[in-house]
Amino acid sequence: MTPPLLEARNLRKTFPAAAGAFAMGARSGVTAVDDVSLELAAGETLAIVGESGSGKTTLARMLLRLIEPDSGELLIDGRDFLAARGAALRALRREMQMVFQDPFASLDPRMRVAAIVGEPLEIHEPGLARAARGARVAEVLRAVGLGEDAQSRYPHEFSGGQRQRIGIARALVLRPRLVVADEPVSALDVSVGAQILELLQNLQRDFALTYLLISHSLPVVAQLATRIAVMQGGRIVETGAAAQILSAPTHSYTQSLIAAIPVLPETT
Ligand SMILES: Nc1ncnc2c1ncn2[C@@H]1O[C@H](COP(=O)(O)OP(=O)(O)OP(=O)(O)O)[C@@H](O)[C@H]1O
Ligand SMILES: [Mg+2]
Repeated sequence: MTPPLLEARNLRKTFPAAAGAFAMGARSGVTAVDDVSLELAAGETLAIVGESGSGKTTLARMLLRLIEPDSGELLIDGRDFLAARGAALRALRREMQMVFQDPFASLDPRMRVAAIVGEPLEIHEPGLARAARGARVAEVLRAVGLGEDAQSRYPHEFSGGQRQRIGIARALVLRPRLVVADEPVSALDVSVGAQILELLQNLQRDFALTYLLISHSLPVVAQLATRIAVMQGGRIVETGAAAQILSAPTHSYTQSLIAAIPVLPETT
């Protein structure tokens, strides 16, 4: 049997209490992620859903080793990711990319789109000839629905949805296997967000991607998720097939998230 693309076992992360927090009694700090285990199989979309502060981003950052867990294990293809160093770590890192919530803050305003999208290539494939790099950038921009003319423009010249497309292009230019999207549409209008979700869905098919999709909103993940894990207070309180979680949630917290979904009035 092939091991999962990514497996986390008993991950834990506590942040020290902020200065002044002693007075408030927060002596031991915040346990942002508390004993979380999960598996991610190649090709699936696992959605992590939970309210603000439940630990979703902290978990995602640990999975990518952007921050180190206090304890726990992390395996990629069954191999110890936390033990990886140097070139092996860099090779693993480029297979896992992140799409951020705020498509403006995450793009350098002083760089043209060609440079923004080409930068990861420059870093990870420095031997690539300029023309080949340009071809890769053009190809990935096309894949996210942006034309050749986008390359010489700056982020502020684009709408929010287009900027998120640029962010997605930057994440995909290294042809990663895993993409972690942390609230990819929460900064966008609903209709624009729906287009981005549809794009993510098409890119998953075209580029054989595995997704970890993070959102506070169940409706957002419903469209893409194959599995859903519900987080509350740093723990996964319920996990299962998306259809099952959405139609028959067992945990009261999941039920409250579903109850919070507005029902559209029927049009006559
Ligand atoms: N660098 C940090 N230093 C101190 N505390 C932190 C840090 N990062 C996160 N926390 C705390 O850890 C907890 C989990 O935060 P996290 O950002 O992971 O939640 P989240 O589910 O992503 O929330 P949101 O939906 O608002 O993005 C929160 O209580 C937060 O205040
Ligand atoms: Mg977050």
